[in-house]
Amino acid sequence: MRELENEFGTRKKKEDMKPVRKAVFPVAGLGTRFLPATKAMPKEMLPVVDKPLIQYAVEEATAAGIRQMIFITGRHKRSIEDHFDRMPELEAELAAKGKDDLLAIVKDISPETDVFIYIRQPEPLGLGHAVLCAEPAVGDEPFAVILADDLIDAGQPGIGQLMQAREARGGGNVVAVEDVPREDTSRYGIVRSTAIDDRTSRVAHIVEKPAPADAPSTLAVLGRYVLEPGIFEHLRTIPRGSGGEIQLTDAIEQMVPAGTTYAYRYAGKRFDCGSKQGFLDATVHFARKAGYAI
Ligand code: UTP
Repeated sequence: MRELENEFGTRKKKEDMKPVRKAVFPVAGLGTRFLPATKAMPKEMLPVVDKPLIQYAVEEATAAGIRQMIFITGRHKRSIEDHFDRMPELEAELAAKGKDDLLAIVKDISPETDVFIYIRQPEPLGLGHAVLCAEPAVGDEPFAVILADDLIDAGQPGIGQLMQAREARGGGNVVAVEDVPREDTSRYGIVRSTAIDDRTSRVAHIVEKPAPADAPSTLAVLGRYVLEPGIFEHLRTIPRGSGGEIQLTDAIEQMVPAGTTYAYRYAGKRFDCGSKQGFLDATVHFARKAGYAI
């Protein structure tokens, strides 16, 4: 029986650790940086080459072995539900015309093994609030959070790397991090942490969008998290933070004293598709990868 040690020397049997089976996709933001494109269409439906951002995110979760996809949606997000729904007329038409390759692409969008759940966030009160909306579907088990606008191209799925890091530590919260230029700290959650190994460090402090002069480091949190269900209690009680929103970062900071919140430098290339520059970079990257002359 494999045992894992956490930082306090307490050992946990691998068999006792609840696995990560569910992923939460907060997609209720307004996407104002992409107006006018996002006036009536969700930012997460913007395609990079031929696939919407949200499909890349779901495929990442599927590749990591997750089968329950929980979307936190808002107004104007119906097209996300439609995208992951079956479309019998289209499938019949493609089958009748012998377009089997396209039929396979359409069917692969929502594998029959996956479950899709949609929960409305009544108002965009912040990422933390969006995650709290997932509680009835997540329940008392660890879960992944994937922000589709951070698109990661990696050999091993980004969220899968975090799940593995969590397993290696015997549980806890894991946030994906990478170094950013100091002038950009005010766009991210920033962590101060102490190294455990090449990629993993223990978080000592995490703060949302600090000014460059106040940032405790340049290690920024990206849109991938594995969280313990204990986060919900904190999300319920924290006051509004940066930008007047309920911030996921603030709830994580409340869990830091327990000593089981980790930062993980994932392997892969990340594109900030919430910004126009990042979205264009991703388009060029994935187009070249698909063999287009660009
Ligand atoms: P962003 O900070 O990128 O905000 O949200 P946004 O509204 O999507 O985009 P801009 O800044 O106006 O252009 C980060 C993630 O959190 C989700 C968003 O959908 C995005 O995936 N989010 C944010 C919610 O689901 N609900 C919220 O209340 C806020």
